[in-house]
Parts: sequence; C-alpha cells; structure tokens
Amino acid sequence: MYKQLLAMGLFALTVFGSVNAQNNEKRVEIDQKVDELLSKMTLEEKIGQLNQYSSSWEMTGPAPSGSNEQQMLQEIKSGMVGSMLNVTGAEATMNAQKLAVENSRLGIPMIFGYDVVHGYKTMFPIPLATASSWDPASAELSAHLAAVETAASGIHWTFAPMIDISRDARWGRVMEGAGEDPFLGAAMAVAQVRGYQGTDLNSENTIAACAKHFAAYGFAEAGREYNTVEISEYTLQNMVLPPFKAAVNAGVASLMNSFNIIGGVPSTSNNYLLRELLKGAWGFEGFVVSDWNSIGEIHEHGAAPDLKEAAYLALKAGADLDMAAKAYLGYLKELVEEGRLDVKLVDDAVRRVLRIKYELGLFDDPYRYSKLDEDGLVLNDEHLKAAREIAKKSIVLLKNEGQLLPLKKQGQTIAVIGDLADDKDTPLGSWRAQAITGSAVSLLEGMENAVTDKGSVRFEQGPVYVSNTPSFTQHLEFNETDPSGIDDAVKLAKETDVVVLALGENCFQSGEGRSQKDITLKGFQQELLEAVCAVNKNVVVVLMNGRPLAINWMAEHVPSIVEAWHLGSEAGNAIADVLFGDYNPAGKLPVSFPRSVGQVPIYYNHFSTGRSEKTENVFWSHYTDESNDPLFPFGYGLSYTTFEYSELTLSESEITADQKLKVSVVVKNTGKVNGEEVVQLYVRDLYGSIARPVKELKGFEKIFLKAGESKMVEFELEASDLAFYGADKTWKAEAGDFHLWVGTNSQSGLKGEFKLK
Ligand code: BGC
Repeated sequence: MYKQLLAMGLFALTVFGSVNAQNNEKRVEIDQKVDELLSKMTLEEKIGQLNQYSSSWEMTGPAPSGSNEQQMLQEIKSGMVGSMLNVTGAEATMNAQKLAVENSRLGIPMIFGYDVVHGYKTMFPIPLATASSWDPASAELSAHLAAVETAASGIHWTFAPMIDISRDARWGRVMEGAGEDPFLGAAMAVAQVRGYQGTDLNSENTIAACAKHFAAYGFAEAGREYNTVEISEYTLQNMVLPPFKAAVNAGVASLMNSFNIIGGVPSTSNNYLLRELLKGAWGFEGFVVSDWNSIGEIHEHGAAPDLKEAAYLALKAGADLDMAAKAYLGYLKELVEEGRLDVKLVDDAVRRVLRIKYELGLFDDPYRYSKLDEDGLVLNDEHLKAAREIAKKSIVLLKNEGQLLPLKKQGQTIAVIGDLADDKDTPLGSWRAQAITGSAVSLLEGMENAVTDKGSVRFEQGPVYVSNTPSFTQHLEFNETDPSGIDDAVKLAKETDVVVLALGENCFQSGEGRSQKDITLKGFQQELLEAVCAVNKNVVVVLMNGRPLAINWMAEHVPSIVEAWHLGSEAGNAIADVLFGDYNPAGKLPVSFPRSVGQVPIYYNHFSTGRSEKTENVFWSHYTDESNDPLFPFGYGLSYTTFEYSELTLSESEITADQKLKVSVVVKNTGKVNGEEVVQLYVRDLYGSIARPVKELKGFEKIFLKAGESKMVEFELEASDLAFYGADKTWKAEAGDFHLWVGTNSQSGLKGEFKLK
C-alpha cells in the first residue's frame, strides 16, 4: 500500500507537485523574498505572523479570553495578526486586508482561512458521501468548484480536507472524513488537495488546503468528542497517518493539529509527529496551524502549567500558527528574550507562513481574490449541475428486494413520507460554509420534478423530527413526546402503490460536537417506519445521515434502502435520479455499518484474534448476544444490474522484492441495464513479525459496463504495496504467503494466493 500511496503522491508531484518541478525557480525566488522580508522584521512582527484571530461575528469555538474587537482592530493595524478565519465575502475580506496592508509598518497581507469542507455556497455531498462514490475525480471536482467559489469571496485557504480515519459511528465528525480505510482515505485526500490547490496556488481560482487533524482525532475514546486517544503505534502508523503522508506528497500547503492527546502528549505539542515525522522525515515545507485554541488546551489537558508553557511547547514542537489562543502573541517574545526559545524556531515558523502567502500571490496584490466578481462565480448553474452529478455518484443502494426500485415515472402512485422528505435544509449537511439556509432541493421536490404527473406523488410529513430550530452550535432537541402525524402517514401509505420514506439524521445531528451514544433512529422515526410497513409492503427508505446508523429492523423488514447521506444543494434531484433509474447507483460504503452500537469500533481491516474460529462452547472471540459481522460491510453497495466476477489470474505465484505481480479479473454485467462497478482488491499477509490484518484494501477501480458487456480489470502489486510499519519502527514488506481477493465488497471476492520471496 505504501508504494501506491507514494505513487499517488508521485503522480501528484509530477502533474501538480510540479508546483515544485516547474516552480523550482519560482521557489528559489520566493525563498529569497521571504528571507529578505524576514531580515526586516522585528521579533514582534514575526510573532504577529504566527497569530490568527477569528472574526468576532462567526466563531467556531469558545471565544478567546479577553477578546475585544477594538483591540483586535488595533492589533491588525500594527501587524500583529498574520491570519484571520471566518472573514467571508469579497467586501469583508477586502476591508480586513486593508487594515493590515495599509496600516502596518511592513504591510504584510493576512491570509484568510475558512472551513470550506464540502462547498462554499453551492453544497456538494458531505465528504463521507463523496468517499462513497469511490471516485477520486468527483472528490477533486467538488473541491475545485468549492475553491472557485471560496477564492471569489476573498478567502485564500480552506481548513480541509479532513482526513481523519474513524471506526466509530458515535463520533459526529465521521461525516467530514472518508471513513475507516487508509487506502481509500489517502486517495480521497490526494484528490481533494488537488481540487483545492490545482497546479498553482497563484491562480485566482485555487486556494491553499489544510489536511486535518494531525493526528488520530478520529480515535477519540468511546467516540466522545474531544476525548482522549489511546492508540498503538501500529495503528497510528499503518491506519491513521497514510492519508496525511499522501496529502503531504501531493503538496498540501498546511496541516492542522488535532485536539487530542496520544499517550498523554497533546498533538499540538507533539514533537515526534510535527518535528521529527512531518517536517523531518516527510520533508513537509508548508505550515502547521493549531486547531481552535488547541495551544490553550495543552494547559487544559494538564500537559503545561500555564499558557506560556503551552506556547513554548507548541512552537518548539512545530505548531506554526496559533488559532485563537493568543498564546504566541502573549508569550513568544518573553520566551525568546529569556533565552528559552531559540529565535530560529520562530523564524522557521514565520518563513513557512510567508512562503505560502507569496505562493498565493498575496504580496503581488493582497486584494486580488476579493476583487473578483463574486456573484457570477458562486452558486451558478455549472456548479449546481456538478453538485447533482457528484451527489448521485455518492448514493449507496443498500437493499433492493424484488426489484422494487427503480420506481416508475408514471402509472404508480407514490407516498413521500417523513419530516426529512420536504426538508430543504438537512441535505446541506453540517459544515456548510456560506450555504443559504433552506436552499437544497428536497427529496419531495426532486421526486415531483421527475414524475410525469405531479399528482402521482403525495406527501405526508409524519411526526415532527427536531423540535427546536437546528443550529450549528446548539443542541438539537428531538421530538420524543408528540407522535401525531403517524396516523395521517399510515392513511396515505394505505392509498398508494409505493412509499418513499425519508429517515435518518438532521443536518446538525452529525458534525463537530455531535457525538452520540446511540446510533439508532431518533424521535418517532422507528415508530413511523413500523406503522407504514404494517400497511404497505412496497416501502423504500431513503436514509439521510452523516454517520453509519444501526438499522437492523429496517434491513430485515424493508425491501429497498437507499443510503443518501447529506448530499448537498441538489440532493433531491440526485436521489430522484436514482429512485427512478435515470442513474444506476454505484456507490459503496466507506465505513462498516454496525448492527448495534455495542459492536463499535467495527472495521473490516481488523486483526484475527487468537480465537477467531467459532467453537461449540463459548470460548471464542464473539458476543453472546450479537454477531461479529457488520450489518453492511465496508465496500458494500448494490446496483440495478448484477456483476459476475471470473477468471482471476495472477501473473506469478511467487514474486521477488523487485518484481511486479499482475492481478487480473473479468467482470461481466449480467443484468439488463448499464451500470458501474467498483472492483476492489484486498490482500492478507498470512504471517508476519507482528500480526497482520485479516484484509487490507490495496486497489480499486470504478468501471462502466453496458448490459451484457465484460471487461478485464488489472491491478499491479509489488513488495512496497505489502509493506507495513512493524515493531522495529520501519516500513517494510516481509517475505511469506499472501492471500488476495478481487470482488465487489470487503466480504466477498475471488480468491488467489501468492508468495513474496
Ligand atoms: C475544528 C476545526 C476547524 C476549526 C476552525 C475547530 O473547532 O476542530 O476542524 O477548522 O474549528 O473553525
């Protein structure tokens, strides 16, 4: 795998990271300019470059203590603020930039950052959904179009992609990442970095990306937000870090620290992660931004007695830019003057920040982004069209018994039921940047747009789902007391041929600060589902959610289930494309769906355990009240057609360390309609110097096959793909026996064997 990650990075290096090759000369020039500027800067001015404030009108965390707008303005004017977040819009960014450029002694422009996670105003599917497309080109396109809109509004830098691997559906931020697998995660990370940054940061429609959160935030204990992380070095190196390494190889401009500690060490002051690995072994030349007050939280963790010590530890470890903690502005000068902190470390951090500012062209024209015609570039038809395309590719068909789907556009009466069905806001998802509230195409609208006769689609809301006004920062209150609406829904369900029932999660049910101990349907959704199923057999559930849900009853009793996540601005149209068969779904799950929250963390690439075989007695690794298997495995997803795999061929039965193994398989579309299939390659290293996972994804390819058509799909593996980080703290492949599978998901496939000599 490592090699494939490297290859992805190398590809990026040759095509895009020519950000390096082509720009080598430019780079030397920029370095000279940076050094020149640095030599003119006072220590205070240097520290100012490492200080980031949030605009006070849109905070994404608790307000820093002593924050005061007048004081902030004064500090910007005196060059004490190198960066701001949450300043949005061409006018606001222009005005803020003027304060710094026109008033400070050296006129150094600020860099504006913002959480553009899956779109700026046009919303694309949440990242977990885009990962379900298994189509890096879609992830790249959505990031690119988001960059176009973001840049148009004067923002230079997004705090994305979020590339945390997570195995825990209780954690609300699962929606922001690409799921549980490092190989798929790395592919999505590279695609997004490319999408945001393009080939040249200097272009007016690219922005700097930020791979976050470094590292292991997705392993928060018990899925509880901001909780401690206890992770083995094995898992950290083999599962968590590969997407970051791939993003670095692809030229990502920045990384963000994570809030958590690992083995007691806060990530923000983790010398090994930042200095040794990232900036040392990986050769990362961009900058590292702390997370919101994560320097202050070093003290909260109990790893520093006060903010001054926290500032010392963070800068020394390699956190370059202080988001919202005011720790650097408050204490770095003292620390240098006391002789505790080498000014060279400050210089290194400043150099990194200035270099990206130069690469963005901010020194040529600090207002260049803000001057663009914002209106023509955001939320235009082209972007909405792409949002629909990407959304439909992100849908996963979980069940389709008796071919209930696709539905008919005429000659069938359809009940559309559920509070989420006419919700024009939920599809926008969490982390929605500047999306206009209520601007998504709802499921109901999408279906009405698709049918020939609008009268064939009838709607009932059912019980209200969320009983307060949903907001990004406040707790949701689910309606747990008033089931009214179920009777009307049942009445309608009795009168129609088919029911499309929208269930799942509100947009702000997943996302930051949204951990849940229970991942079953909330409110009266389960009651509604059972009541509707009791009167109509033809029920299609459309799930809208940001995390895997435990939906056992549904999986057993409902003939058709469509996983539609939170799909963005064009959600309803995209879902209708799938429901009516205008698009044949091809998405695959990037996460395992547990049967019960008690199975969590659940993931396909686990170890075998010493007692994995079922025995007559109880003494094997299992639950007495639940199966070990997920409800739906990683890589799973159906189509309206069927695919048959045959002729698995391995070019060799043994390979040496410098030989390539060619693996081919023939895939046939055996159904009646055209379709796409994600062909997946998994490998198991049977024995190693340490235990090895039962399966690991090593390749995938999405292919299109006409009805009846066959295609041969080829993969190549070599020793470096089989390498892992072992007990001796190095990456290497070990000689021995391997199994491999090529198939349609992580639990099935044709099996082959080979040896690495
Ligand atoms: C989140 C980051 C985000 C930052 C700025 C933090 O709470 O963890 O992912 O980029 O806020 O909004």
